[in-house]
Amino acid sequence: MRPCVIAVDGTAASGKGTLARRLAAHFGFAHLDSGVLYRLTALGVLEAGGDPGSEADALAAARAIDHARAGDPRLRSDRVGAAASRLAAIAAVRAALLRYQRDFIAHPPGAAPGSVVDGRDIGTVICPDADAKLFVDATPEVRAHRRWQELAGLGIARTEQQVLDELVNRDAADRARTVAPLRQAPDAALLDTTNLGIDAAFAAALALVKPRLAAKLEAKPRG
Ligand code: C5P
Repeated sequence: MRPCVIAVDGTAASGKGTLARRLAAHFGFAHLDSGVLYRLTALGVLEAGGDPGSEADALAAARAIDHARAGDPRLRSDRVGAAASRLAAIAAVRAALLRYQRDFIAHPPGAAPGSVVDGRDIGTVICPDADAKLFVDATPEVRAHRRWQELAGLGIARTEQQVLDELVNRDAADRARTVAPLRQAPDAALLDTTNLGIDAAFAAALALVKPRLAAKLEAKPRG
């Protein structure tokens, strides 16, 4: 039996990453932030002086990802986010990053019994048969405010308006692309975090996910 998978998709800065991390801790699952794969690719292209819109440049960077840099604060910049969104529209780049995600799901690190993967296309493309799917969203203004606070904490100075413009543009591009566009899977539960603090959002996520996982977790042999 394939290990359990919880797919957490959603718009930029909707809180999906934090929710995915907390769900993973709750269930003892491994967590994969798939956006980091696109951001690492983007950072590689930019550092090499390449063009994120070039298939050759982006593919070379996707194949040379250094996962040890996943915590690099430079990954969080608008420039890297925008470049990530550009190269994420290239089918060959998505194909190159797909294998890592599917391997993670098939063999969660640390022999964990399952994984929580967050991104844009987890429930639609990477793992359409995920055991539970969430689609996380909030108003653009609320998301911009949260992201602006997060960036300030990392020492990245932006105005809230700049952050808002970047989020809106990136979501529009992610929704409009022809390959693996950002969209809610038909069987994903919508979680709107606009009026929810993180604890309330987590409680809501858990309430949506738990019943969907129950059958699978109960079927697992015990002892
Ligand atoms: O989630 P995060 O904001 O880090 O993602 C950065 C960009 O990477 C997104 O705007 C999107 O274009 C791309 N991405 C994607 N598919 C994923 C995760 C991220 O296309 N599963």
